[in-house]
Amino acid sequence: MNYIFEQGNDKNTSVFLLLHGTGGTERDLLPIAGMIDEQASILSVRGNVSENGMPRYFRRLAEGVFDEEDLVFRTKELYDFLNTTSKEHSFDRENMVAVGYSNGANIAGSLLFHYGKTLKGAILLHPMVPRRGIELPDLTGLPVFIGAGTNDPICPASETEDLIELLKGAGAEVEVCWADQGHQLTREEITKARQWYEKQFH
Ligand code: MLT
Repeated sequence: MNYIFEQGNDKNTSVFLLLHGTGGTERDLLPIAGMIDEQASILSVRGNVSENGMPRYFRRLAEGVFDEEDLVFRTKELYDFLNTTSKEHSFDRENMVAVGYSNGANIAGSLLFHYGKTLKGAILLHPMVPRRGIELPDLTGLPVFIGAGTNDPICPASETEDLIELLKGAGAEVEVCWADQGHQLTREEITKARQWYEKQFH
């Protein structure tokens, strides 16, 4: 997998797992990570599925319709990659906070849906429900921040609401920032994400 690893100055701060949106690269979310915690270490991974040349983390059959088999396979691939890469770069695997946007938020959500508390927390920006009809693992106390747009045509508000219910049902502590916006990231949600992150982890 193509990725960037940057060790932060302080080994005790979080390792941000950065996961871009469809058509993005591992460079996209670097500025966002800096806006949330400039001290954090960074592991930014490029999705290794190509949709007409656009990187993604798993295949989809149509917009909003995920290839479930590929989702499960790619989630395991990412999970294994995190475990081996943490050893290679000697960072604390237990100290990882995902920051994912759109397709990247969906694979981050899928990590939680399939591997439980494998992340210390997650910032999900414009996520959808990664997979329906499965029993979720125990997520008791896991802090999750969700940024969503009330007029997001790609990740409709009802998807966000379903995701919140599912995560809360598994015990996660979910905080949501709604903006009267579409699918684009807003400064407001990143500012809220930073405030949430500081409250949780500092
Ligand atoms: C997806 O995973 O397909 C997204 O939520 C939408 C996108 O990335 O375009």
